[in-house]
Amino acid sequence: MSENETITQELCKEVDMKDGEMQEFQVQGQSILLVRNNGIFSATGNKCSHYGAPLSKGVLVGDRVRCPWHGACFNVRTGDIEEFPGLDSLPCFKVTVENGSVCIVTTKKALESTKRVKSMSSRSAGDRSSVVIIGTGPAALVFAETLRQEGYTGKIVMVTREKHIPYDRTKLSKAMNVKAEEIYLRPTEFYKEHDLEVWTEKEVVSINTDEARVKFKDGSFLQYSQLLIAVGSRPRELKCPGSTLQNVFYLRCPEDAGAIFEAASSKNVVILGSSFIGMEVAAFLADKARSISVIGKSDVPFQAVLGKQIGEEAMKLLKDRGVNFYMRTEAREIRGNNGQVNEVLLRNGTLLPADVVVVGIGVTPASNFLKGSRIAVDTKGAIYVDQVLILCRVLYY
Ligand SMILES: Cc1cc2nc3c(=O)[nH]c(=O)nc-3n(C[C@H](O)[C@H](O)[C@H](O)COP(=O)(O)OP(=O)(O)OC[C@H]3O[C@@H](n4cnc5c(N)ncnc54)[C@H](O)[C@@H]3O)c2cc1C
Ligand code: FES
Repeated sequence: MSENETITQELCKEVDMKDGEMQEFQVQGQSILLVRNNGIFSATGNKCSHYGAPLSKGVLVGDRVRCPWHGACFNVRTGDIEEFPGLDSLPCFKVTVENGSVCIVTTKKALESTKRVKSMSSRSAGDRSSVVIIGTGPAALVFAETLRQEGYTGKIVMVTREKHIPYDRTKLSKAMNVKAEEIYLRPTEFYKEHDLEVWTEKEVVSINTDEARVKFKDGSFLQYSQLLIAVGSRPRELKCPGSTLQNVFYLRCPEDAGAIFEAASSKNVVILGSSFIGMEVAAFLADKARSISVIGKSDVPFQAVLGKQIGEEAMKLLKDRGVNFYMRTEAREIRGNNGQVNEVLLRNGTLLPADVVVVGIGVTPASNFLKGSRIAVDTKGAIYVDQVLILCRVLYY
């Protein structure tokens, strides 16, 4: 059978599915999601374009299915992604209903891919405008891709102070030994193909909105027609004595994750903070470090965001894996030897041995460089000032 030859396969009988129902079917080895809504059948790929969760196990509301793992939403009529995370849409298939039989009509080629990249414009030499995006996180990348999907033909430049093209930061606390290249959101060729420039190791130090240009730490400038600030956040800094000793780590980029992973193997690790970063790092290092102690100010981990019941369960799971918890307290002092951490004194008087300290006590917007500019920062959302759009945080837990 040639790859473009039409395949018609019966999926079910019309009476087998009620309105508002969805079911998974296998067609030539590919998992298909069949939905019946308002009497109409539609079929898309069943694997979420983010990390492949089966959408048939998600929630259908109207024409939208929400992924059961991290909540991405797809339109079941078109396969288009409508809420993130995830960058790509789903393949969408023709469905026929004849004599009570519901059939998918497709080709072998169309069944090959579980993702669909939306079509994008490219740069036109005649378009002299430029959009500069500070940041290469998911907010920046989705923005850049959306511009091309919507037909923008000017120059698009994303700049980052980090060493890497856009990557999945969320992996860093779950697979700390991952190589940055393994978690790139798009391959290098993608940016070339769609005329998206990514400038790495270019830290922005100020913005001049009167002259419409950004200044970099190396002294160079970049002119923009429109500017998006999508700089995310930076870890909140620890203020107690000893916080600058060697082996006190924050977790933000692949280099941080790799350094913590190397330093922590078979060592005593103290983790300050019992929310997502602290708990995920504890879970990852549980079978690698000699000891792990998690310090938290609340009664149980995750209390502020997920409540006591879930916090208790999470604490129990990690206790069963040998993680020690010191709750309702915080670090008073980090003590060192020859500039290197060797113990942590808690406010409740407990003294813990420590070769490595990981600080995960929250984040603040990475907007320091805006001081002195005319740009106001609203940490709750996005605002426009003189052709400048600010996206302060994107959350998709
Ligand atoms: C270890 C870790 C694990 C996480 N796990 C999860 C998870 O499981 N689920 C979840 O929903 N969220 C998770 N998060 C949070 C999630 O990563 C963020 O919410 C998300 O990355 C925010 O996206 P963003 O595009 O707004 O900014 P960011 O991803 O923070 O990107 C900001 C970008 O701005 C750049 N930048 C900042 N300042 C400057 C400057 N002055 N000059 C140039 N460039 C600059 C940075 O280099 C970076 O490219 C995690 C975060 C971390 C650190
Ligand atoms: S796997 Fe679907 S949102 Fe992550």
